[in-house]
Amino acid sequence: MTDSASTGAASTRRYDDILVVTIDHPPVNALSAAVRGDLARVIREAQADPQVRAVLLMGAGKNFIAGADIREFGKPPQAPILPEVCNQIEASAKPVVAVLHGAALGGGLEIAMAAHYRVALEGAKLGLPEVNLGLLPGAGGTQRAPRLMGAQASLDLMLTGKHLSARAALEAGLVDTLSSDADPLDAGLAYTRQLLAVGAGPRRSRDAGALADKTVALAQVEAAAERVAATTRGLYSPAKIVEAVRAAIEQPFDEGLRTERALFLQCLDSPQRAGLIHAFFAERDTAKMPGQPARPRRLERLGIVGGGTMGAGIAVAALDAGFPVTMVEQDDAALERGRARVAQVYDLLLKKGRLTPQERESRLARFTGATDYGALDDADLIIEAVFEDMAVKQAVFAQLDRVAKPGAVLATNTSYLDVDHIAAATRGPADVLGLHFFSPANIMKLLEVVVGEHTAADTVATGFELARRLRKIPVRAGVCDGFIGNRILAVHRQAADMMMEDGASPYEIDAAVRAFGYPMGPYQMADLAGGDIGWATRKRRAPTRDPAQRYVQIPDRLCERGWFGQKTGRGFYLYPDGARQGEQDPEVLAIIAAERARARVTPRSFTPEDIQRRYLAAMINEAANVLLQGIAQRPSDIDVVFLAGYGFPRHRGGPMHYADSVGLDRVLADIRGYAQEDPAFWKPSPLLVQLAESGRNFASLNQTA
Ligand code: 3HC
Ligand code: NAI
Repeated sequence: MTDSASTGAASTRRYDDILVVTIDHPPVNALSAAVRGDLARVIREAQADPQVRAVLLMGAGKNFIAGADIREFGKPPQAPILPEVCNQIEASAKPVVAVLHGAALGGGLEIAMAAHYRVALEGAKLGLPEVNLGLLPGAGGTQRAPRLMGAQASLDLMLTGKHLSARAALEAGLVDTLSSDADPLDAGLAYTRQLLAVGAGPRRSRDAGALADKTVALAQVEAAAERVAATTRGLYSPAKIVEAVRAAIEQPFDEGLRTERALFLQCLDSPQRAGLIHAFFAERDTAKMPGQPARPRRLERLGIVGGGTMGAGIAVAALDAGFPVTMVEQDDAALERGRARVAQVYDLLLKKGRLTPQERESRLARFTGATDYGALDDADLIIEAVFEDMAVKQAVFAQLDRVAKPGAVLATNTSYLDVDHIAAATRGPADVLGLHFFSPANIMKLLEVVVGEHTAADTVATGFELARRLRKIPVRAGVCDGFIGNRILAVHRQAADMMMEDGASPYEIDAAVRAFGYPMGPYQMADLAGGDIGWATRKRRAPTRDPAQRYVQIPDRLCERGWFGQKTGRGFYLYPDGARQGEQDPEVLAIIAAERARARVTPRSFTPEDIQRRYLAAMINEAANVLLQGIAQRPSDIDVVFLAGYGFPRHRGGPMHYADSVGLDRVLADIRGYAQEDPAFWKPSPLLVQLAESGRNFASLNQTA
């Protein structure tokens, strides 16, 4: 080893005749302007340095390079731009080798593809995930990947955004060799020395031959174009990715790069890019708390009370994460059903080949069932998921208070009930919080961490730690009826019900909400979740309902007939013979017509845009109230709740980001317009008024620490 020079974001050190360039830009070596500038300079200097025969690129820390610096998108570009740096690397007269470890994603993989040789370490993750941010690989990736791995495999990589393991990347032709060395420097030096020993010179991906059969490649592009048109529902960048790969086949390399750049800039300008990047950061911000964070309590053994839909799903999530789990049910028969629900999930995964028999066994071996609460005496955290009934929950918490060990955290999975009232059944409300999972609990990413009046800071920290271990996205919420998500949902669902009574059919409303980008509309959702749950909540709320507020009875008419949705074969839709896709039901339309007559409503028509605007305005207005009351910490947390828990279209960034993008003055004007017909329901939130009238937006309230 000789020489050493620090250049800031990329440092260099020479090992004999190999110049090792280490990209060092924590936390993930993203390609900021400083990194790009340093890279361009060291590559240039290497050309002129007679002592350098080869260049080795590696990352400092856990990752090679996670991609372009996402925080720079939307700001004016700073030279040198990444495609130029990649071209410069590829043009090097001396061989350039990249050693890939940890994340080699997006622009990081593009740098590696511009290098002349690639070696990957075990555990490396390679991918072109730009599509998840509304972009396409814009530093030559759409031109080099197809030349290295063919049109089909590169389209697959770019359209799914998936990560490839080192072995899969080798098989695909994306890397040249694997190394079992744990240290990237040793692995990279060893490989580079081998290359120099055999006299290997620069070998450029632009000249690679995987697109040799143009007819086959173009047929793959056509098929991808059709798939994208049929499945990506309004997304902008997938079609641009296909166009860029078509250019890779039809155009010479340099012209293809120009086409890619033009398509990339179109994606960069699209509101979808802004929405998706907002979602990326919003999800990472939810766990950030102002002030000094408390340390979580010990978290090794979990207890669950209730083995129904949610208890079983939570058990699976915990077993998947490696926790030992004890489930308590009311009696042997209920416990057996709970156990069967857990086993059923694993049996299905086994059948689909997504789990090995050994994995199934080892997970179930960590599962214990009991009917005696005493079995929970060694649990560090106990989650209650029994019936949604205050008396039942308080009785359970009084029992837990007797058996739980000192310092154990007690959590309720209630959807709506007052966590402080539940905590009052114990002698230690500081240990109690809400952990509101979403169904199916082993799949849905969202976890509302509901903080009660007396909940201790380390109890909250333990809830966040559990989310981290379960790979969920935690969002802090305050106590109110329905917390963040269900509280807001109740309001925009009410707006939908009012439109239904005023003339829109549930099928028109569902179609308009789907056209906005949701996977399903509110009435399909209600049928899936089961109408009985909402009905029970409406009955519970009836005594406190404001008589001045309009109340639409159509859903009650269906529930009174036992039409609870899919599980009963009919709800708003018909599900003949257990069908999962519902059919429109003329009897439901007749019931709606009768209800309109009873309520003396003259039906009118709503365009899809009318429906969307009312639905969103109700959502945004209630979300503003949730913020104002401190139930949510920041607007972006509300976005995350709707993205991760309710199917809000990710490319629109969540309701708060969407409101900002259309303009708060327009949302307020809509609400004021609707208030002319129904001032009791459409009361503009004071926060919305204040922001709109001062020309501010929700984003101005986002803060992370
Ligand atoms: N730019 C800027 N910041 C980034 C970043 C990026 N590309 N990737 C991650 N970060 C930040 C995160 O915001 C987070 O910051 P914080 O600590 O302040 O919240 C920090 O790095 C750590 O990220 P994670 O919490 O996600 O850490 P993990 O270890 O769980 O995951 C990862 C690491 C797999 C690299 C993940 O962060 C990831 O997937 N990043 C995005 C990768 C990506 O999309 N790359 C493509 C970018 S677009 C591009 O390259 C365009 C080009 O073609 C021109
Ligand atoms: P469920 O009816 O499927 O299961 C409840 C289980 O609790 C039953 O198996 C019952 O035997 C058991 N149980 C009742 N009393 C008990 C007691 N004293 N001790 C031990 N076990 C007892 O209900 P589900 O859907 O699982 O809901 C449970 C809780 O989760 C409710 O508070 C609900 O509001 C909430 N929730 C439900 C969601 C859903 O989509 N189903 C989503 C999020 C939260």
